[in-house]
Amino acid sequence: MFLGKGIYLSVRLETVHNRLVYKAKSMTLTDEIIKLKREKKAVILAHNYQRPEIQDIADYVGDSIELSRRAVEEKEAEMIVFSAVDFMAESAAILNPEKKVLLPSLGARCPMAQMLTVHEIKRWKVLYPLVPVVLYVNTLASAKAYCDICCTSANAAEVVNSVNAETVLFGPDRNLAEHVQRETGKTIIPIPERGFCPTHVLFQPEDTRMLKTRYPDAVSMVHPECTVEMQDIADFIGSTSQMCRYVKKSNAETFIVATEEGILHRLRKENPGKKFVLAYEDVVCPNMKLNTLERLYASLKEEKHVITIPEAVAKKARKALERMFELKN
Ligand code: 13P
Ligand code: SF4
Repeated sequence: MFLGKGIYLSVRLETVHNRLVYKAKSMTLTDEIIKLKREKKAVILAHNYQRPEIQDIADYVGDSIELSRRAVEEKEAEMIVFSAVDFMAESAAILNPEKKVLLPSLGARCPMAQMLTVHEIKRWKVLYPLVPVVLYVNTLASAKAYCDICCTSANAAEVVNSVNAETVLFGPDRNLAEHVQRETGKTIIPIPERGFCPTHVLFQPEDTRMLKTRYPDAVSMVHPECTVEMQDIADFIGSTSQMCRYVKKSNAETFIVATEEGILHRLRKENPGKKFVLAYEDVVCPNMKLNTLERLYASLKEEKHVITIPEAVAKKARKALERMFELKN
């Protein structure tokens, strides 16, 4: 009994010691990052899913449309460190050909973006030659070059409504496609047929229903990459930053959140009096989480990994992104 307590105490002390060492290390790293950032005239843009320590050090934290906009607005910066996944850094590089755009971890690739190849788009275009192609920004630059206009989860319905056609080819997310179809009443053909986000499909309605019994007054917020069944039980459907704005305006005290866990840091920081519960425990996008403070530091110091897009591809993809920005959203 006594020995058991002793071991428990020593494990606890070791954990506390490790935490303190990590905290001290990340404090020095944070200082180093801030110093390098100034020296290199760099800005750090971080997605809402990034680790808390990265969100805290970033110049700007946001959803995909806000980060793309911000990348263009940062006129003074010579370098953009994009702490997110491949397609977001690619969009920044497309929109800022004169700036150096860095992705801290080369492995941070969005699997959904890999699901739509140029070959697949061409195949659908042959089947529907007169139908416009709307692509979610969660696509590679090479795919964007073959679309008429891009959209994000914040403006997908608005973009589809802006297109002068009743039928639209839409990819790669099947769940977002279904959401858009409901919102616009247009015929949406998903390309590929079953593109999805491996992280968001983990949310299931049963779990939210269970949580609602525990928190009967809670409001449920669902990202449109979640399944239609999840969308059906949502009080609010929107992009990550739209969720943040919704919470600020809402009088509710408790929120059930169906999107990646990284957003909880921002929600809690901005709304200290409110309670946030993930709709399913520990839902993580492993790709987003590949960016660590250490990798961010190495990225700035060694100016890696530079994202470059061949100009022939960038030129076409830029048009599709700029058409989206021309809409008031
Ligand atoms: P947001 O634009 O809503 O931040 O979404 C990006 C994304 O990849 C969600 O999985
Ligand atoms: Fe891609 Fe899903 Fe991760 Fe978003 S959460 S970056 S869609 S894998």
